[in-house]
Amino acid sequence: MKSIKEAEIKAGTRVFVRVDWNVALDERRKIINDARIKASLPTISYIKEKGGVPIIASHFGRKGESIQPVIEFAKSKYPELSEGVEFLENLRQDKGEEENSENFAKKLADLAEIYINEAFPASHREHASIVGLPKLLPHFAGFRFLEEYENLSKVFKPEHPFLVIFGGAKFETKLPLVEKFLNKADDIFIGGGLHSRAKKDSEMQVKLDELSNNPKIIFPVGNVCALDANAETLEILKEKITSSRLVLWNGPLGNYEKGFIAGTNALARMLADSSAYLIIGGGDTLATVSPETECDIAGHGFISMAGGAMLEFLADETLPGIEALNN
Ligand code: 3PG
Repeated sequence: MKSIKEAEIKAGTRVFVRVDWNVALDERRKIINDARIKASLPTISYIKEKGGVPIIASHFGRKGESIQPVIEFAKSKYPELSEGVEFLENLRQDKGEEENSENFAKKLADLAEIYINEAFPASHREHASIVGLPKLLPHFAGFRFLEEYENLSKVFKPEHPFLVIFGGAKFETKLPLVEKFLNKADDIFIGGGLHSRAKKDSEMQVKLDELSNNPKIIFPVGNVCALDANAETLEILKEKITSSRLVLWNGPLGNYEKGFIAGTNALARMLADSSAYLIIGGGDTLATVSPETECDIAGHGFISMAGGAMLEFLADETLPGIEALNN
């Protein structure tokens, strides 16, 4: 996979930048967190410094809504986006994007001379702008894309002791990772809503029961289906964190949508105060954590912006978007 630094960007070169500006909105449709926009700025600025013209393209939501409000927000907040930059409408407004149609990829290729993938969180999708377009243009990875790749890859050859913490709700998405990391991690905690979810599916429950016999597996103390992690569970995690050199964490410990945020926030603080290298991600893992804690975590770790793509990358060690850049 080549870095954007290897791209021949000269004055006037038109550069298609596939970003992931699929940002979360609140109920009044205000942007809650613009970290994904901010993370794409170094790549955009680099292209401009070389004299190139960035053509910024993203998907937004799943219903084909316009991305214009996000673009307007980004332009008003970040002056580097107000001039010398072109924007495309939500890529998913054309069904060719999700169908990975060759015609749609050709239409996009006609707009530019170089392709940059700066959308790691969308690179698990076999969509035209992720896997079709790089076949048609010289292709490179953006700065943030490479950061995601390099940091998440640290868990494949981990430093030990290596602790893995899984929360969240969808046990079926975490099970392949639990199975994979049994060989690599020293301890794996399975908490959050994963037990309640497994209870609804007898096959999943059997798997979870089998895992309970493995000495590497840690379950919450007391009611495994509780809506938040209790003090005893946090104490066990604290002990493990203190002796760990690497911690991977994906998924909140409590049902934060119903206000059960104490366990997640306490865990985040423990990790921030630890000396372990931290790799944290999965959409809403840090959604309820204070900016100060987040900043302390980032001081000795990496916060991924990917949700489903992070899980797929951790399981497969690659993604369709990475393969497209490698070909
Ligand atoms: C995300 O938010 O995880 C990415 O932008 C991918 O979005 P999607 O799940 O709608 O493809």
